[in-house]
Amino acid sequence: MKGRIIFISGSTDGIGKQAALELAKQGAYIIIHGRNKDKTIDTVNFTKSESKNEKIDFVLANMSSFQQIRSMSEVLHKRYDKIDVLVNNAGAQIHGLNCSENGYELTFAVNHLAYFLTTSLLLDLVAKSEYKRIVIVSSGMHFRVDKMDFDTLQGKTDYDLYKNYAHSKLANVMFGYKLSRLLKNSGITVNCLHPGLINTNLNPQRAQHIVDRALPVKKGIISTMRLVTSSELEGVTGSEEVFSVEGVSLLFKELKSEYLRLVRVISSSSPKIV
Ligand SMILES: NC(=O)c1ccc[n+]([C@@H]2O[C@H](COP(=O)([O-])OP(=O)(O)OC[C@H]3O[C@@H](n4cnc5c(N)ncnc54)[C@H](OP(=O)(O)O)[C@@H]3O)[C@@H](O)[C@H]2O)c1
Repeated sequence: MKGRIIFISGSTDGIGKQAALELAKQGAYIIIHGRNKDKTIDTVNFTKSESKNEKIDFVLANMSSFQQIRSMSEVLHKRYDKIDVLVNNAGAQIHGLNCSENGYELTFAVNHLAYFLTTSLLLDLVAKSEYKRIVIVSSGMHFRVDKMDFDTLQGKTDYDLYKNYAHSKLANVMFGYKLSRLLKNSGITVNCLHPGLINTNLNPQRAQHIVDRALPVKKGIISTMRLVTSSELEGVTGSEEVFSVEGVSLLFKELKSEYLRLVRVISSSSPKIV
């Protein structure tokens, strides 16, 4: 991975931070993304000292804000001619109904709309690389809902943390699948993964029996590392599987008609987003 320019959203903690460190150890040029300046600079310093790699940059954006994502994209376009790998990883499980500044339910805004907008804005930089990979960190939790419930997507009537999170992660898979089809002649590959149940700060209120089952964060990066680095996956795009450390084959063929509906809904609002 020496010299490859890799952007990882949400790399100040958990899976993103650990993946950034491992890739930095392999000589990649890492762009850390964070929302809190002090925490992000701490992460940059930590990554440099642990990896002995000085080629660590950072950008800031709260992923719930379209405006901040756009500003981040402008900074990245000023600094870089290309991005070899875009890893959409920043995610949250948000307790209680909250709204983003753009009027979207916060879990959906951070976990899905931010992936959509970041990818759309950085696509030209990925296209300029010869490596051309887009990695989408979804979740096996997307199986908690068998289809998108468009009426409750905004959560205004019956917000439920796990249901809304599951919808946002289902949207990740649908987006990845559709994007891979749209880009199939471009050489850009797009694949989704489920990291496994991992012990991170995603949900500090997790029940103890879930915490007891969770794997350490070092295991949580296996799927991400595979999709970012594996030469076996060269040219593999829009896989029918969500890559998973647990070895579970998370097929989403049955979702094909539903993702078309999601894309229509997102497309109809895209002038506001992109
Ligand atoms: N842990 C699991 O069991 C598990 C299972 C399946 C899928 N996943 C997925 O894995 C990905 C990484 O999660 P994790 O488990 O590593 O959680 P984590 O330890 O909480 O890390 C999440 C990262 O996302 C960032 N983030 C959250 N909200 C943000 C916002 N509004 N703006 C900008 N950055 C934001 C966090 O920034 P701060 O450092 O500022 O908080 C942090 O860097 C997520 O997409 C999650 O859905 C996790």
